[in-house]
Amino acid sequence: MSKILVTGGLGYIGSHTVVELHNQGYEVVIIDDLSNTSLNVLESIHKITNSSIKFVELDLKNSVKTKEFVSSNKEIDGVIHFAASKAVGESVENPLKYYTNNLFSLTNLLNELKNLNKEINFIFSSSATVYGDPKILPITESEPIKKAESPYGNTKQIGEEIIKDLVNSSSNFNAISLRYFNPIGAHPSALIGELPIGIPQNLVPYITQTAIGKRNELTVFGDNYLTRDGSCIRDYIHVVDLAKAHIKSLEKLIKEFSKNYYDAFNIGTGKGTSVLELISCFESVSGKKLNFRIGERRKGDIAKCFADVSKANELLNWKSKHSIEDALLSSWNWEKHIKNEKL
Ligand code: UFG
Repeated sequence: MSKILVTGGLGYIGSHTVVELHNQGYEVVIIDDLSNTSLNVLESIHKITNSSIKFVELDLKNSVKTKEFVSSNKEIDGVIHFAASKAVGESVENPLKYYTNNLFSLTNLLNELKNLNKEINFIFSSSATVYGDPKILPITESEPIKKAESPYGNTKQIGEEIIKDLVNSSSNFNAISLRYFNPIGAHPSALIGELPIGIPQNLVPYITQTAIGKRNELTVFGDNYLTRDGSCIRDYIHVVDLAKAHIKSLEKLIKEFSKNYYDAFNIGTGKGTSVLELISCFESVSGKKLNFRIGERRKGDIAKCFADVSKANELLNWKSKHSIEDALLSSWNWEKHIKNEKL
């Protein structure tokens, strides 16, 4: 049985990936610094998996502690690296936080893994943000990488470069970067999901919080884009499908791909949905009328962003399965769970 380290394993995508890894029979070790999550998530993972998964509280910026951790977990075969800060706006206000949290911790971890002198399979959590405003839609992996629009986006571009350079230089690393489009949804048990701190920046948690009465109204950021209904188009992917893409990637690295393999893959559904379409779909699955108004465009938003996922379909043997309806219903059930449990 392979032993897999999941950094940031108590976060939104991390926690769903831990559950899927466990379902596939992997032994999992979670590390998390608890900066944007809590031990409740570990408890929920234990409930879902009906087993006790090893957890170590660790901040990867701490070189001494990272060294200690890796040297006492030498049996690790694979690493899925989620641990990072992810708020675009905050990264503009506090760039050093992002360069330190997202890149210094990455190099710390990679240094220690390299010192193990054994084959390591590494999955990096990247983002469609690396493409900026795409020239051609749907976006393929050969879309040129443009200058990043935020320090957050820059850390994803540089992170990918660091990993690619390391794979090229060393005989013991294989790696894949997964460029996520827009993750939404929650586990079907409604025990884990996205738990934004403060006012949500992303659309779906804002919708569910408005529907449950935590927020008065949702503002749709612009209805005058050159799209079919004037609102922006994104590729919303169910977090469980996204989690499964990590397991497929790991399997391919472990079993099939040659040594010193590196590549990047789009992870989305391939289908674009507009903000207004998403709202209407939410209303129909939840049976709730959403209080929303049309507002100004949000700075930095692009009109359309959706993936060409044929590379991941073919090379990773992965395809998204859940519909937008499934995803929104699971987000809604999760929001109700948050309310019932007062999380
Ligand atoms: N939106 C609203 N109202 C809101 C929130 C969002 O209308 O209150 C709209 C946005 O304008 C956008 C769409 O909903 O058109 C989706 O917005 P999100 O903030 O949910 O997602 P983004 O596509 O802006 O952001 C995602 C990821 C980021 C990543 C970025 C760029 O969440 O991590 O894509 O690729 F950096």
